[in-house]
Amino acid sequence: MGKKIGILTGGGDCPGLNPVIRAVVRTALRDNWEAVGFRNGWKGLVENDIIALTERSVSGILHRGGTVLGTSRTNPYKNESDIQKVRQNFKANGLHALIAVGGEDTLGVAAKLAKEGFPVVGVPKTIDNDLACTDFTFGFDTAVNVAMECIDRLHTTAESHNRVIVVEIMGRHAGWISLYAGLAGGADVILIPEKPINIDEVCESIRKRHSKGKLFSIVAVAEGAQFADKDITKEDKLDQFGHVRLGGIGQVLADLIEKKTGFEARVTVLGHIQRGGSPSAFDRVLGTRFGYKAVELIEQGKFGHMVSLQGNDIAAVPLEDATKSLKLVPNELYDLAKIFFG
Ligand code: F6P
Repeated sequence: MGKKIGILTGGGDCPGLNPVIRAVVRTALRDNWEAVGFRNGWKGLVENDIIALTERSVSGILHRGGTVLGTSRTNPYKNESDIQKVRQNFKANGLHALIAVGGEDTLGVAAKLAKEGFPVVGVPKTIDNDLACTDFTFGFDTAVNVAMECIDRLHTTAESHNRVIVVEIMGRHAGWISLYAGLAGGADVILIPEKPINIDEVCESIRKRHSKGKLFSIVAVAEGAQFADKDITKEDKLDQFGHVRLGGIGQVLADLIEKKTGFEARVTVLGHIQRGGSPSAFDRVLGTRFGYKAVELIEQGKFGHMVSLQGNDIAAVPLEDATKSLKLVPNELYDLAKIFFG
């Protein structure tokens, strides 16, 4: 057996992680390399929770959501002793390279390790699609399709009852899922974190629609969307990367809409339904291509890079560039969406 490649999956899980793991292992084995997995993200490297990955262990996982390696939001740089253990275990296991699959937080850790000289390669993952330097992340397509189907379903019940239904969709810093699902599902108002909510404008759009004889409306709101003057969060406690737990904006909006317009309003929070279940064909293929490319980068000694989708090609970009800033919804796209409001 040749050199050893490690892989871990960190942050919120996401449909498409298993296709990545499978592609990494199958490609590594083809080239006579050994593959090992660290369980539960960076926690696995801190605790040296390691498993061998064979053809058998990745058989039958392509279509499964979640991650067979488990995940966590552990930030080893939070404690000097944790990052020290990561460095030790990296060396003690004789890793030739590590593939970190994750979003801004997990890859932020990978970028720091790479800067220290560790041979790390990144794979971009998040349903939020907010990672820079890649056109899309896997998981996003599946989440959009789930949210779109929910919006379709909400339409029929909203119409039957002449109600406004506010649907709260995931998206912490960026409103990609709300925008795509809202566009695809024909939402009447779409609210995203990039644009502070103006409740009077929202109500005006709904009134306008109702004045045209449509007595129901769907409002798609990203959980990270906020009013200009006050933040809505579920709780103030921060995770290891300093994020608050979001949620609650949908209910607040529904209450305000009902109060200001007099139209009966309800809220539906999609939550983790969007992250669970089987990946779409697009996400399975993207995950597979990313996993394959990650091993290729290792074989070329191209460490400190992240695989990325550019057009229809899989490329490599410096991890540092990919984790510097987030990819937000551009104004032009939101302007397009606004044509369909009201
Ligand atoms: O991973 C991204 C994401 O799904 C965000 O859209 C959301 O805010 C967050 O994760 C939820 O995290 P958790 O699963 O820890 O509740």
